[in-house]
Amino acid sequence: MRAMMISGKTRVLGTLALLLCSTAALADDDASASSRAAATVAKMTTDEQTILTHGIMPMALGDFGSGGPKFPDDAVPGAGYIYGIPRLNVPSLRETDASLGVAYIGGLRKDGATALPSGMAMASTWNPALIEAGGAMIGSEAKAKGFNVMLAGGTNLMRDPRNGRTFEYMGEDPLLAGTLAGAAIRGIQSNHIISTTKHFALNDYETARDFANIIVSDKNARESDLLAFEIAIEQGKPGSVMCAYNKINDHYACDNDYTLNKVLKGDWGWKGFVMSDWGAVHSPTTALNGLDQQSAWILDGKDYLGKILAENAAKDPAYAARVKDMNQRVLYAIYANKLDSDPAMKGGAIDFEAHGAVAQKVAEQGIVLLRNEGNILPLAASAKRITVIGGYADSGVLSGGGSSQVEGPGGPAVAIPLGGDGAFALFFSQAYQRSSPLKAMKALAPDTKFSFTRGDYITDAVIAAKKADVVVIFATQWSTEGVDLPDLSLPHGQDALIDAVASANPHTIVVLENGSPVLMPWLNKTAAVLESWFPGARGGQAIANILYGKVNPSGHLPGSFPASLDQLPRPALPGAETIEPDFQGKAHPGEALTIDYNIEGADIGYRWYARNHTKPLFPFGFGLSYTSFALSGLKVDAHNMTASFTVANTGSVAGDDVAQVYLTSAAGTAHERLVGFQRVSLAPGTKQSVTVKIDPRLLAEWNGTGWTVRGGQYSFALGTSAADLQPAISTNIPAKTLKP
Ligand code: GLC
Repeated sequence: MRAMMISGKTRVLGTLALLLCSTAALADDDASASSRAAATVAKMTTDEQTILTHGIMPMALGDFGSGGPKFPDDAVPGAGYIYGIPRLNVPSLRETDASLGVAYIGGLRKDGATALPSGMAMASTWNPALIEAGGAMIGSEAKAKGFNVMLAGGTNLMRDPRNGRTFEYMGEDPLLAGTLAGAAIRGIQSNHIISTTKHFALNDYETARDFANIIVSDKNARESDLLAFEIAIEQGKPGSVMCAYNKINDHYACDNDYTLNKVLKGDWGWKGFVMSDWGAVHSPTTALNGLDQQSAWILDGKDYLGKILAENAAKDPAYAARVKDMNQRVLYAIYANKLDSDPAMKGGAIDFEAHGAVAQKVAEQGIVLLRNEGNILPLAASAKRITVIGGYADSGVLSGGGSSQVEGPGGPAVAIPLGGDGAFALFFSQAYQRSSPLKAMKALAPDTKFSFTRGDYITDAVIAAKKADVVVIFATQWSTEGVDLPDLSLPHGQDALIDAVASANPHTIVVLENGSPVLMPWLNKTAAVLESWFPGARGGQAIANILYGKVNPSGHLPGSFPASLDQLPRPALPGAETIEPDFQGKAHPGEALTIDYNIEGADIGYRWYARNHTKPLFPFGFGLSYTSFALSGLKVDAHNMTASFTVANTGSVAGDDVAQVYLTSAAGTAHERLVGFQRVSLAPGTKQSVTVKIDPRLLAEWNGTGWTVRGGQYSFALGTSAADLQPAISTNIPAKTLKP
């Protein structure tokens, strides 16, 4: 027995050795990918040098797909295709959207894929390991369908909850968004396919996305949106970064020496390749300003990184040098992610049952309990009569619109096309995943008498509500790529409906299926509110399991819910009065839009509320549980840059908590920032000691060439949200400067 005992010291040394080996192995892989890429570039003929630098859109979508070259045999209908170089064993790149699963591209794909819950639901889990598993799942489906690039890793911050694509992203905080996006990218790439991170950068609105000019200082950008991408890239190591449509300080994001050359490739030393967003390239100078690959060139009208690049490279050494670098970068990403040695093949098997279970777990951990008066939840299976209203709850759960839209096997349960003409109208449909909350509730409460009314008329909803012990009303807010939400109300008169129903029956529970934060004028009339976001392929089962307590809610908000639009840095939606609505965001004659992000700067969301001493409706980090937790004993170790504390489950049922550590003042100046978090699972009556690393950049200010920690007294506090902080402790942190 003794021989079997391994001393603690040996175990630690063993772990250390393993860690060093894996780090060394990673470094070897990296070096090998770089050297292999250089060797392949050296073999390229002149003609071959402009093959990997531009691509087509392999989908006959209206007049977009037909105008380009004939689709190659190995193309898979999807967002993009880059020809390979068979002579050099370089595979073609088959690209699919997106962060929530293999997109159905407006119905051109009918093969079905598993829809993860939306980005805001994923972010509400605060669970990097689970998000990594979700990425691994959708990446495996992409690979089984023949794709080797997934256009995922949406990391834009929620500067404005009205952004139409808030649902795709991971909230308002750079640490949370970057960490979770990095985990998703890691998961996707674990399949030996490339993931992107996108949309680089500062693409935080959809209005006039094609030409909106974002004004932002280097400091403000580095301490917010760019920090989110920096963390995602460090932790996820994406093979590609997708540059955005908008302008940044007068230069297009895909033609931007500052963001692409100085920050991404220079300061951060990133070795992958920058691909453009679809239709985001406007000039051949893009080749000198950091773009490595023009996606779906047909949408730009000119093959800037194809024939035009070849002509420029033939006469200008700067272009010639860039062409080699472009190929080096694309090949580095191919080799680093083993696309050549472990190729994606069409026809792979997909276990939709197991994948659905992953989506359901993400949904269950991402559902946020916002209100639970008198502990009306969890529902007793003995409740005699429950009226369910609205949200197509008898059929499915809502999902967001645009390129990220995933369609499950068998197609949507409900699809409300938005009509209109033009090729991209296909993408615009309010679609419901085949997962009915009502069906799932009936399965959990077979003795309860359920009634369902669609909620089209307040009259019959109120009559139904009066007959019930409990009312569960599903409220939906659809949002989509390409347009922003005009405000934060619930559309189609749902606010009035909820108000009337809750007035008729105080035991009213509201379940939200929405892309982003909404106002709740009816809040105080309701008994409970559940935030389920767009809950994905098994969202109905997830909602029912939370309602009936099969799963204890554990989600925490990744974005603040404003109490009114007046609380936002830009109460009037930028461009709402001046820009002609166009879901592509394409400029019309005479249109221009400048948005000054320096108003809030890096103080996005909870930082903005703290700076203005205002109180949101629900704060960042907020989430209730069916049990209770206590946080205690915060200690900050300035030398190791760690925070330690204890979490206890003081209630009567098992549950997960998300403990949060905030900086509250830096060298004497009030400054709120999330600096660490940890999700813990605890049985009732148990507790756990936790230690989290603090990234020093979160204590620092960008100084123009790096980060400065001014040094002095820094205060930290434990919190169950950004607005619910314990008394702070103060620690002396030594001054230091950090590289970018
Ligand atoms: C879209 C989106 C981007 C997507 C790409 C391909 O316009 O902005 O997120 O990956 O085009 O569909």
